[in-house]
Amino acid sequence: MDSTDVARHWEANAEAWTRQARNGFDIFRDAVNTPAFMAQLPSIQGKEGLDVGCGEGSNTRQLARRGAAMMAVDIAPTFVRHAQETECKEPLGIEFRVGDGMALPFDEASFDFVTAFMSLMDMPDPQRALREANRVLRPGGFLQFSILHPCFVPPHRKVLRRRDGKTRAIEIGDYFASTTGRVDTWWFSMLSRKQRKKVAPFQTPIFHRTLSQWIDLVIGAGFAIEKLGEPTAGAASGRREAVLEDTEVAPLSLIVLATKRRAAGAAPSPVPTP
Ligand SMILES: C[S@@+](CC[C@H](N)C(=O)[O-])C[C@H]1O[C@@H](n2cnc3c(N)ncnc32)[C@H](O)[C@@H]1O
Repeated sequence: MDSTDVARHWEANAEAWTRQARNGFDIFRDAVNTPAFMAQLPSIQGKEGLDVGCGEGSNTRQLARRGAAMMAVDIAPTFVRHAQETECKEPLGIEFRVGDGMALPFDEASFDFVTAFMSLMDMPDPQRALREANRVLRPGGFLQFSILHPCFVPPHRKVLRRRDGKTRAIEIGDYFASTTGRVDTWWFSMLSRKQRKKVAPFQTPIFHRTLSQWIDLVIGAGFAIEKLGEPTAGAASGRREAVLEDTEVAPLSLIVLATKRRAAGAAPSPVPTP
């Protein structure tokens, strides 16, 4: 599966995804991943940033409200149109463009930071996407991205629940099986059975990599990893929706903060000897 196929799937999801996300159905994003992402993010006040795979733009707007001058790209035109329409109504100075994270339409050293919220694992060649992020970053710039957690959301994942519906454990399997665009069919978990009868499920291509493969890809693209985050709703959130409880047993996403160490493709720095 290549970028064109991925774009086709996301374009088909975009209208319903935007409507549901804006009506609060993407509860994992809003209650868990984005708050943890923002808490881990270095200061972006006065910086120029790029958000890759911005979707309908909710997270990009949060970044702009933190004082960054934002550019954003997504491969699905319908997401970009919705993001642009919101920008017209409530301007935050964000430029939204259709673009492929694996072939960014920007010159090298154009940005102080790059973000990617839950989009890199949707790309057929994450190494290219990471190299592209490295290329468009200025020296010393940083990349922060979140992905489905490679350890806890491998190709086989089943949530085991107690009789009362509480999450007991997560069954996982096929961790070492790389998927090259397996298409998953699913709804936001907040959608009731009745609602699911009325809306088509999302179909999302997934490209699973193991944790060590992701780390190798990040380092190989010229980054130094600074911090990892494994967001959990935590009992303190006060919310008891199943998808949030699941994150108290094992994280659904992994957040990686990395700084540009060298230009992608340049010879790696020698490993220090003890
Ligand atoms: C799970 S959604 C996340 C959207 C948004 N970042 C958010 O957190 O609400 C993944 C997004 O990545 C986009 N995407 C997938 N492949 C892409 C690519 N090669 N280049 C740019 N965007 C891509 C999809 O169109 C989709 O909007």
